[in-house]
Amino acid sequence: MRVLGFESSCDETGVALVEVPEQGAPRLLAQGLHSQISMHQAYGGVVPELASRDHIRRVIPLTREVLAGAQLGLADVDVIAYTQGPGLAGALLVGAGVAVALAAALGKPSLGVHHLEGHLLSPFLSTDAPEFPFVALLVSGGHTQLMRVDDVGSYEILGETIDDAAGEAFDKSAKLLGLPYPGGPHLAKLALQGDPKAFELPRPLLHSGKPDFSFAGLKTAVLTQVKRLGESPTEQQRADLAAATQAAIVEVLVKKSLLALKTSGLKRLVVAGGVGANSALREQLNSACAKRGVRVHYPELSLCTDNGAMIAMAAAMRLQRGMGQLRRDGSFEVRPR
Ligand code: KG4
Ligand code: ZN
Repeated sequence: MRVLGFESSCDETGVALVEVPEQGAPRLLAQGLHSQISMHQAYGGVVPELASRDHIRRVIPLTREVLAGAQLGLADVDVIAYTQGPGLAGALLVGAGVAVALAAALGKPSLGVHHLEGHLLSPFLSTDAPEFPFVALLVSGGHTQLMRVDDVGSYEILGETIDDAAGEAFDKSAKLLGLPYPGGPHLAKLALQGDPKAFELPRPLLHSGKPDFSFAGLKTAVLTQVKRLGESPTEQQRADLAAATQAAIVEVLVKKSLLALKTSGLKRLVVAGGVGANSALREQLNSACAKRGVRVHYPELSLCTDNGAMIAMAAAMRLQRGMGQLRRDGSFEVRPR
């Protein structure tokens, strides 16, 4: 069986084809990705209407490329999966509409996939795939959660953010530092030149004793420091503030992950979502987990941020377990929230 997957929840158009064997792990045959980042950069963030329009322009050519890359045609596809939500409504409608229309035209079933389940299962696309059960740290632009994952579809939220997501904290702080959108990777790069101890920033809820998060106060503290530095901070001051911001976010993410591992008694951690690409986070998690005999799994770097492969993979893993509501009547709905 082969699954064609579409991702269009935000500013990346992703299409991928996954092969699902009778037994054993699904395998990625081909994938294509088009990032809209350069288009949105001029506006300092994603413009929903522009995002939808660009998904429309890209999705069919990208699908052709992916099928050609796998040397297969639409007739070789058995199920068509798409991101059902959460995400931008208009953007989601493009991927879902195309997927369901293709499925209807081909007489094949369609399957809606939860975007976060895609992120959560993305490490299964790597050569070093995890085994169930595990604790998952899901850190994206819109979500920050710790979960206990016993199997596909068996998810228990252990804790989550009460305000901003970790990616949002990176992006908003980066914006205050005058860095382009999306700020996370730019802030991480600037932080390489900085001293994290040069500024003292808060770590909200660090000692709450629960695996919960709060990042809104950090953004306010960064704003205060930016104002204090005035109109023209030196390059070193900016780098120091970037390093201090990253250190604050990373320390909280590491501490809370360790707490979730300890209380669940599990010895495996999966890190997924865009912030999982952050190298400071990876280094500190790796060293803290190594000391405690915990194995850490990440998706391939290129699959940390949004992509079609994780959607096709999540659909494939559901189908292998006889899960997922296949639809054949051409109907669908998206769930932005
Ligand atoms: O998972 P994702 O692609 O989209 C959502 O579903 O939200 O995550 C995007 C987020 C953005 O906030 C981006 O700044 C952040 O991931 N990000 C990073 C890095 N790469 C991406 N944050 C910190 N360091 C990075 N290297
Ligand atoms: Zn995402």
